[in-house]
Amino acid sequence: MKVNRAVRELAAGNPRASGGAAPKVRQPAPANADPLAQLNTAQRAAACFGIGEPGNDDDRRNAAGNDDQHHPLLIIAGAGSGKTTTLAQRVAQLLNHGADPGRILLLTFSRRAASEMTRRVERLLRQRRGTRSLAGTPALSWAGTFHGVAARLLREYAGRIGIDPAFTIHDRQDSADLLNLVRHAQGLSAKSKRFPLKATCLAIYSAAINTQAPLREVLQSTFPWCAEWEADLKRLFLEYVETKQAQQVLDYDDLLLYWAQMLGEAVLARELGERFTHVLVDEY
Ligand SMILES: Nc1ncnc2c1ncn2[C@@H]1O[C@H](COP(=O)(O)OP(=O)(O)OP(=O)(O)O)[C@@H](O)[C@H]1O
Ligand SMILES: [Mg+2]
Repeated sequence: MKVNRAVRELAAGNPRASGGAAPKVRQPAPANADPLAQLNTAQRAAACFGIGEPGNDDDRRNAAGNDDQHHPLLIIAGAGSGKTTTLAQRVAQLLNHGADPGRILLLTFSRRAASEMTRRVERLLRQRRGTRSLAGTPALSWAGTFHGVAARLLREYAGRIGIDPAFTIHDRQDSADLLNLVRHAQGLSAKSKRFPLKATCLAIYSAAINTQAPLREVLQSTFPWCAEWEADLKRLFLEYVETKQAQQVLDYDDLLLYWAQMLGEAVLARELGERFTHVLVDEY
Protein backbone atom coordinates (compact mmCIF):
# COMPACT_ATOMS: atom_id res chain seq x y z
CA MET A 1 0.00 0.00 0.00
CA LYS A 2 1.14 3.51 -0.85
CA VAL A 3 0.82 4.86 2.71
CA ASN A 4 2.66 1.92 4.23
CA ARG A 5 5.47 2.34 1.76
CA ALA A 6 5.67 6.08 2.45
CA VAL A 7 5.88 5.46 6.20
CA ARG A 8 8.62 2.85 5.70
CA GLU A 9 10.56 5.26 3.49
CA LEU A 10 10.18 8.02 6.05
CA ALA A 11 11.45 5.69 8.78
CA ALA A 12 14.43 4.94 6.54
CA GLY A 13 15.13 8.66 6.38
CA ASN A 14 14.29 8.90 2.71
CA PRO A 15 11.20 11.10 2.42
CA ARG A 16 11.60 12.17 -1.21
CA ALA A 17 11.82 8.58 -2.36
CA SER A 18 8.44 7.81 -0.79
CA GLY A 19 6.57 8.82 -3.90
CA GLY A 20 4.72 11.53 -1.98
CA ALA A 21 4.49 14.99 -3.39
CA ALA A 22 7.34 17.33 -2.55
CA PRO A 23 6.32 19.85 0.08
CA LYS A 24 4.70 22.88 -1.51
CA VAL A 25 6.57 26.13 -1.13
CA ARG A 26 4.07 28.95 -1.10
CA GLN A 27 5.33 31.87 -3.07
CA PRO A 28 4.44 35.23 -1.57
CA ALA A 29 2.30 37.37 -3.84
CA PRO A 30 4.26 39.93 -5.80
CA ALA A 31 4.36 43.10 -3.72
CA ASN A 32 2.86 45.22 -6.52
CA ALA A 33 -0.20 43.01 -7.17
CA ASP A 34 -3.62 44.42 -6.23
CA PRO A 35 -3.76 43.62 -2.49
CA LEU A 36 -7.56 43.81 -2.48
CA ALA A 37 -8.03 41.45 -5.41
CA GLN A 38 -9.70 38.80 -3.21
CA LEU A 39 -12.52 41.18 -2.26
CA ASN A 40 -15.81 41.65 -4.09
CA THR A 41 -17.08 45.13 -4.95
CA ALA A 42 -18.97 45.74 -1.70
CA GLN A 43 -16.10 44.42 0.44
CA ARG A 44 -13.66 46.57 -1.47
CA ALA A 45 -15.79 49.67 -1.00
CA ALA A 46 -15.92 49.00 2.76
CA ALA A 47 -12.18 48.31 3.03
CA CYS A 48 -11.36 51.58 1.24
CA PHE A 49 -14.18 53.70 2.71
CA GLY A 50 -12.82 57.17 3.47
CA ILE A 51 -9.26 56.05 2.78
CA GLY A 52 -8.87 55.49 -0.94
CA GLU A 53 -7.67 52.73 -3.18
CA PRO A 54 -4.31 50.97 -2.67
CA GLY A 55 -1.32 52.94 -3.83
CA ASN A 56 -3.08 56.29 -3.85
CA ASP A 57 -0.70 58.38 -1.82
CA ASP A 58 -2.99 61.42 -1.98
CA ASP A 59 -5.14 59.58 0.53
CA ARG A 60 -2.45 59.00 3.13
CA ARG A 61 -3.55 62.10 5.01
CA ASN A 62 -7.05 60.63 5.42
CA ALA A 63 -5.90 57.37 6.97
CA ALA A 64 -3.52 59.11 9.32
CA GLY A 65 -6.58 60.65 10.91
CA ASN A 66 -5.58 64.24 10.32
CA ASP A 67 -8.92 65.37 9.04
CA ASP A 68 -12.58 65.10 9.78
CA GLN A 69 -13.43 63.01 6.74
CA HIS A 70 -14.10 59.87 8.74
CA HIS A 71 -17.69 58.84 8.98
CA PRO A 72 -19.01 55.75 10.72
CA LEU A 73 -19.61 52.72 8.55
CA LEU A 74 -21.83 49.83 9.57
CA ILE A 75 -21.54 46.56 7.70
CA ILE A 76 -24.44 44.17 8.05
CA ALA A 77 -23.82 40.81 6.42
CA GLY A 78 -24.65 37.18 7.10
CA ALA A 79 -22.55 34.48 8.74
CA GLY A 80 -19.46 33.48 6.77
CA SER A 81 -20.02 36.20 4.17
CA GLY A 82 -16.60 37.84 4.57
CA LYS A 83 -17.01 40.47 7.32
CA THR A 84 -13.76 39.70 9.17
CA THR A 85 -11.90 39.48 5.86
CA THR A 86 -13.15 42.97 4.99
CA LEU A 87 -12.22 44.36 8.41
CA ALA A 88 -8.73 42.87 8.26
CA GLN A 89 -8.24 44.28 4.77
CA ARG A 90 -9.41 47.66 5.99
CA VAL A 91 -6.85 47.64 8.81
CA ALA A 92 -4.09 46.68 6.34
CA GLN A 93 -5.33 49.42 4.03
CA LEU A 94 -5.27 51.98 6.85
CA LEU A 95 -1.74 50.99 7.87
CA ASN A 96 -0.50 51.10 4.30
CA HIS A 97 -1.96 54.59 4.01
CA GLY A 98 -0.03 55.86 6.99
CA ALA A 99 -2.34 55.24 9.96
CA ASP A 100 -0.50 54.80 13.28
CA PRO A 101 -0.95 51.15 14.39
CA GLY A 102 -0.87 52.25 18.03
CA ARG A 103 -3.91 54.46 17.44
CA ILE A 104 -6.16 51.83 15.87
CA LEU A 105 -8.64 50.32 18.29
CA LEU A 106 -9.74 46.90 17.10
CA LEU A 107 -12.47 45.26 19.14
CA THR A 108 -14.33 42.00 19.07
CA PHE A 109 -16.16 39.79 21.52
CA SER A 110 -14.19 36.58 22.06
CA ARG A 111 -10.47 36.10 22.57
CA ARG A 112 -10.42 33.67 19.70
CA ALA A 113 -11.97 36.20 17.31
CA ALA A 114 -9.55 38.88 18.50
CA SER A 115 -6.45 36.79 17.86
CA GLU A 116 -7.87 35.57 14.53
CA MET A 117 -8.38 39.16 13.43
CA THR A 118 -4.82 40.19 14.39
CA ARG A 119 -3.42 37.12 12.67
CA ARG A 120 -5.27 37.92 9.46
CA VAL A 121 -4.11 41.53 9.45
CA GLU A 122 -0.51 40.40 9.95
CA ARG A 123 -0.83 37.91 7.11
CA LEU A 124 -2.23 40.57 4.78
CA LEU A 125 0.56 42.97 5.66
CA ARG A 126 3.14 40.28 4.97
CA GLN A 127 1.46 39.52 1.64
CA ARG A 128 1.44 43.17 0.72
CA ARG A 129 5.13 43.44 1.47
CA GLY A 130 5.81 40.24 -0.41
CA THR A 131 7.51 38.63 2.56
CA ARG A 132 6.79 35.70 4.85
CA SER A 133 8.64 37.24 7.78
CA LEU A 134 6.87 38.86 10.72
CA ALA A 135 9.78 41.26 11.20
CA GLY A 136 8.72 44.83 10.63
CA THR A 137 4.98 44.06 10.93
CA PRO A 138 3.48 46.93 12.93
CA ALA A 139 2.14 45.92 16.33
CA LEU A 140 -1.59 46.45 16.80
CA SER A 141 -1.27 47.21 20.48
CA TRP A 142 -4.97 47.96 20.89
CA ALA A 143 -6.51 44.86 19.34
CA GLY A 144 -8.50 42.73 21.76
CA THR A 145 -11.81 41.83 23.32
CA PHE A 146 -14.22 44.42 24.70
CA HIS A 147 -13.52 43.13 28.21
CA GLY A 148 -9.74 43.00 27.76
CA VAL A 149 -9.52 46.52 26.40
CA ALA A 150 -11.91 47.78 29.08
CA ALA A 151 -9.73 46.28 31.83
CA ARG A 152 -6.63 47.87 30.35
CA LEU A 153 -8.18 51.31 30.00
CA LEU A 154 -9.75 51.16 33.46
CA ARG A 155 -6.40 50.32 35.08
CA GLU A 156 -4.84 53.24 33.27
CA TYR A 157 -7.59 55.73 34.15
CA ALA A 158 -8.38 54.21 37.59
CA GLY A 159 -6.98 57.11 39.57
CA ARG A 160 -9.17 59.54 37.68
CA ILE A 161 -12.40 57.62 38.09
CA GLY A 162 -11.96 56.70 41.74
CA ILE A 163 -11.09 53.02 41.56
CA ASP A 164 -7.99 51.13 42.67
CA PRO A 165 -5.69 50.49 39.67
CA ALA A 166 -4.94 47.08 41.19
CA PHE A 167 -8.63 46.05 41.11
CA THR A 168 -9.42 42.33 40.95
CA ILE A 169 -11.47 40.93 38.07
CA HIS A 170 -14.09 38.33 38.97
CA ASP A 171 -15.13 35.77 36.41
CA ARG A 172 -18.70 34.43 36.36
CA GLN A 173 -17.95 31.76 38.97
CA ASP A 174 -16.27 34.23 41.36
CA SER A 175 -19.20 36.61 40.90
CA ALA A 176 -21.79 33.91 41.63
CA ASP A 177 -19.82 32.86 44.75
CA LEU A 178 -19.62 36.41 46.10
CA LEU A 179 -23.30 36.97 45.39
CA ASN A 180 -24.02 33.73 47.22
CA LEU A 181 -22.08 34.90 50.29
CA VAL A 182 -24.18 38.06 50.42
CA ARG A 183 -27.31 35.99 49.82
CA HIS A 184 -26.46 33.82 52.86
CA ALA A 185 -25.49 36.81 54.99
CA GLN A 186 -28.87 38.41 54.33
CA GLY A 187 -30.64 35.19 55.33
CA LEU A 188 -32.19 34.84 51.88
CA SER A 189 -31.08 31.25 51.41
CA ALA A 190 -32.94 30.27 54.59
CA LYS A 191 -36.32 31.64 53.47
CA SER A 192 -39.19 29.22 53.91
CA LYS A 193 -40.09 29.60 50.23
CA ARG A 194 -37.14 28.94 47.93
CA PHE A 195 -35.29 32.11 47.00
CA PRO A 196 -33.68 32.08 43.49
CA LEU A 197 -30.33 30.24 43.35
CA LYS A 198 -27.06 32.13 42.97
CA ALA A 199 -26.82 31.57 39.21
CA THR A 200 -30.34 32.93 38.69
CA CYS A 201 -29.63 35.91 40.96
CA LEU A 202 -26.51 36.68 38.93
CA ALA A 203 -28.38 36.32 35.63
CA ILE A 204 -31.03 38.78 36.86
CA TYR A 205 -28.39 41.22 38.11
CA SER A 206 -26.47 40.97 34.83
CA ALA A 207 -29.63 41.49 32.76
CA ALA A 208 -30.56 44.58 34.79
CA ILE A 209 -27.06 46.05 34.44
CA ASN A 210 -26.71 45.32 30.74
CA THR A 211 -30.17 46.52 29.72
CA GLN A 212 -30.02 49.45 32.19
CA ALA A 213 -33.70 48.71 32.81
CA PRO A 214 -35.48 48.89 36.19
CA LEU A 215 -35.37 45.58 38.08
CA ARG A 216 -39.16 45.30 37.99
CA GLU A 217 -39.19 45.39 34.19
CA VAL A 218 -36.38 42.84 33.93
CA LEU A 219 -38.21 40.50 36.27
CA GLN A 220 -41.51 40.86 34.46
CA SER A 221 -40.06 40.40 31.00
CA THR A 222 -37.40 37.74 31.57
CA PHE A 223 -37.68 36.19 35.03
CA PRO A 224 -41.43 36.36 35.84
CA TRP A 225 -41.17 33.42 38.30
CA CYS A 226 -38.85 35.59 40.48
CA ALA A 227 -41.03 38.72 40.42
CA GLU A 228 -42.25 38.13 43.98
CA TRP A 229 -38.68 38.57 45.26
CA GLU A 230 -38.18 42.05 43.83
CA ALA A 231 -37.60 43.81 47.15
CA ASP A 232 -35.21 41.12 48.45
CA LEU A 233 -33.32 41.05 45.15
CA LYS A 234 -32.94 44.82 45.24
CA ARG A 235 -31.43 44.60 48.72
CA LEU A 236 -29.19 41.73 47.66
CA PHE A 237 -27.88 43.55 44.58
CA LEU A 238 -27.23 46.74 46.52
CA GLU A 239 -25.16 44.89 49.09
CA TYR A 240 -23.42 42.91 46.36
CA VAL A 241 -22.34 46.15 44.67
CA GLU A 242 -21.20 47.65 47.98
CA THR A 243 -19.18 44.52 48.76
CA LYS A 244 -17.53 44.58 45.34
CA GLN A 245 -16.64 48.23 45.75
CA ALA A 246 -15.27 47.69 49.26
CA GLN A 247 -13.11 44.81 48.01
CA GLN A 248 -12.05 46.65 44.81
CA VAL A 249 -13.56 43.92 42.69
CA LEU A 250 -14.96 44.36 39.18
CA ASP A 251 -16.96 41.63 37.53
CA TYR A 252 -17.26 41.18 33.74
CA ASP A 253 -20.33 43.41 33.53
CA ASP A 254 -18.56 46.08 35.58
CA LEU A 255 -15.70 46.23 33.08
CA LEU A 256 -18.10 47.40 30.38
CA LEU A 257 -20.24 49.42 32.76
CA TYR A 258 -17.31 51.37 34.23
CA TRP A 259 -15.89 51.97 30.78
CA ALA A 260 -19.25 53.30 29.60
CA GLN A 261 -19.55 55.47 32.73
CA MET A 262 -16.04 56.76 32.14
CA LEU A 263 -17.02 57.87 28.64
CA GLY A 264 -19.93 59.76 30.19
CA GLU A 265 -17.35 62.22 31.54
CA ALA A 266 -16.82 64.79 28.78
CA VAL A 267 -13.11 65.37 29.52
CA LEU A 268 -12.25 61.67 29.59
CA ALA A 269 -14.41 60.97 26.54
CA ARG A 270 -12.56 63.62 24.55
CA GLU A 271 -9.19 62.37 25.75
CA LEU A 272 -9.98 58.80 24.84
CA GLY A 273 -11.52 59.85 21.54
CA GLU A 274 -8.37 61.72 20.59
CA ARG A 275 -6.24 58.75 21.46
CA PHE A 276 -7.63 56.61 18.65
CA THR A 277 -7.84 57.60 15.00
CA HIS A 278 -9.84 54.55 13.97
CA VAL A 279 -12.15 52.25 15.90
CA LEU A 280 -13.09 48.97 14.21
CA VAL A 281 -15.45 46.44 15.72
CA ASP A 282 -16.03 42.89 14.49
CA GLU A 283 -19.28 41.30 15.69
CA TYR A 284 -20.65 43.66 18.27
N1 LIG B 1 -14.81 37.95 -1.70
C1 LIG B 1 -14.54 36.71 -1.34
N2 LIG B 1 -14.38 35.74 -2.24
C2 LIG B 1 -14.11 34.47 -1.88
N3 LIG B 1 -13.98 34.04 -0.61
C3 LIG B 1 -14.14 34.96 0.35
C4 LIG B 1 -14.42 36.33 0.06
N4 LIG B 1 -14.52 37.00 1.25
C5 LIG B 1 -14.31 36.09 2.22
N5 LIG B 1 -14.08 34.88 1.69
C6 LIG B 1 -13.82 33.62 2.44
O1 LIG B 1 -15.02 33.26 3.10
C7 LIG B 1 -14.71 32.68 4.36
C8 LIG B 1 -15.44 33.42 5.47
O2 LIG B 1 -14.90 34.74 5.55
P1 LIG B 1 -14.91 35.56 6.90
O3 LIG B 1 -14.36 34.75 8.03
O4 LIG B 1 -14.26 36.86 6.61
O5 LIG B 1 -16.48 35.75 7.08
P2 LIG B 1 -17.29 36.34 8.32
O6 LIG B 1 -18.48 37.04 7.74
O7 LIG B 1 -16.39 37.11 9.20
O8 LIG B 1 -17.71 34.98 9.03
P3 LIG B 1 -18.35 34.76 10.49
O9 LIG B 1 -19.78 35.13 10.38
O10 LIG B 1 -18.11 33.31 10.75
O11 LIG B 1 -17.58 35.66 11.44
C9 LIG B 1 -13.20 32.72 4.51
O12 LIG B 1 -12.67 31.47 4.15
C10 LIG B 1 -12.79 33.78 3.52
O13 LIG B 1 -11.48 33.58 3.03
MG1 LIG C 1 -16.01 36.89 11.29
